[in-house]
Amino acid sequence: MKATAIAHLLQQEPSLIDVTARGWVRAFRSNRFIALNDGSTLHNIQCVIDFENFDEEVLNNITVGAAIEVKGTLVESQGQGQKVEIQVSDVEVLGKADPEDVKLTILSPKRHTMEKLREQAHLRVRTNTFGAVMRVRSKLSFAIHDYFQQNGFYYMHTPIITGSDAEGAGEMFKVTNLDGKNPPLNEDGTINYKEDFFEKETNLTVSGQLEAETFAMGLGKVYTFGPTFRAENSNTSRHLAEFWMIEPEVAFNDLADNMDLAEDFIKYVVNYALEHCADDLEFLENRLLQEEKSKPQAERSDMALRDKLKFVLENNFKRVSYTEAIDILKNSKPNKKKKFKYLIEEWGADLQSEHERFLVEKHFKCPVILFDYPAKIKAFYMRLNDDEKTVRAMDVLFPGIGEIVGGSQREERYDVLKEKMAAMDISEEELYWYLDLRKFGTCVHSGFGLGFERLVLFVTGMGNIRDVIPYPRTPGNASF
Ligand code: 4AD
Ligand code: MG
Repeated sequence: MKATAIAHLLQQEPSLIDVTARGWVRAFRSNRFIALNDGSTLHNIQCVIDFENFDEEVLNNITVGAAIEVKGTLVESQGQGQKVEIQVSDVEVLGKADPEDVKLTILSPKRHTMEKLREQAHLRVRTNTFGAVMRVRSKLSFAIHDYFQQNGFYYMHTPIITGSDAEGAGEMFKVTNLDGKNPPLNEDGTINYKEDFFEKETNLTVSGQLEAETFAMGLGKVYTFGPTFRAENSNTSRHLAEFWMIEPEVAFNDLADNMDLAEDFIKYVVNYALEHCADDLEFLENRLLQEEKSKPQAERSDMALRDKLKFVLENNFKRVSYTEAIDILKNSKPNKKKKFKYLIEEWGADLQSEHERFLVEKHFKCPVILFDYPAKIKAFYMRLNDDEKTVRAMDVLFPGIGEIVGGSQREERYDVLKEKMAAMDISEEELYWYLDLRKFGTCVHSGFGLGFERLVLFVTGMGNIRDVIPYPRTPGNASF
């Protein structure tokens, strides 16, 4: 008989039908009650065995972490917390787990720190917390495709290996197969990349935006959803060296349309999670409450996780210009009392996460979209405003996260773009194709990038970005 997913079994009525379940043992109490989990749901199914009827050898191998198959009937549960359980007639141990070895791992049934879980990242998916986060992550991925596909967008796969630096920030990982110890050199001693695999310098992409723009100029509405790479040395709870980004790009959209799209999109996926991940979110909400008990009152959030998610759905994101934001920050208490690490002194300052979070969490108390940033602190491709000082950039800021989305209306004017590239030392030769778009039927267009892990952080209420991706890559760490 084929095994049935435990998620499915738990929703059945006690029907006395024969069932088969497979999974990993989470607990085995009194030689009688097996808590079995197969990952299909947070919840274990209770499997009751009459130990008198089973071989002692088999019983001895039903230990925490072991993979087993049980056959039996689905009966009404006598215990609390579940409607049904399996009255076991047959059990087979498929894969043993030596209790002495298990004791040394995070599979052992006690509280482990998130750091400990990270060290054993190959096993952490078998814990309630990480399993819940990964199920939510999967559902959110699907919701993202669902949103765009329902709204007439085409999914585009942008290259991972590229010769260009989309953000012009120089935070790239090189891709080469030259011998690092003894590379071929030019006469002037520099590395001769003509002899490299691609016969030029290449790197891992930091963003698929520039290529997505080319497709928007033919397919109209496109989105990417793929891994991106940044060699920025930021060891924070919100930065990864490898993260997944969603980048919609839409022809004929201006900045206001872009903000509407970002807000509508985020609300859709957050709502999707609320509707499709009820169990996991309830569990994660309680986990967060528990975790916050150890924090000082002032640092605790005043809303439970699911209320925070609903709050996002029910309120308009506050749209505020950079200039207004600077005024607010300049006159804010933490700035005047020098509590910010980076004090805001004048217009033009780049905003740090502490400023973004002040605006969202303390001042506006709702998600904020900041727009019209100084051209100097933003990437070369953003549409210059008539004031010639600001660009049509937008960042969406979220409570507890800071920046979750970065986007802009793109510079569609050939001459202006050329000038900006020259001023920012961006190679025209490398990006001739990007300039071409402005020669052949250019038009107003806009897009943004949503950091997927930051979205998962927000929805799950986890505190560290390393705990919402299967195998985090951060400075000094590329294990697994
Ligand atoms: O603001 P960013 O750098 O924007 C771009 O890359 C644009 N090309 C996007 C576009 O307009 N198509 O990055 C976009 C988002 C950020 O708002 C943040 O959520 C996330 O990507 N992000 C990171 N997430 C995790 N780790 C990092 N190191 C990240 N850097 C950016
Ligand atoms: Mg940004």
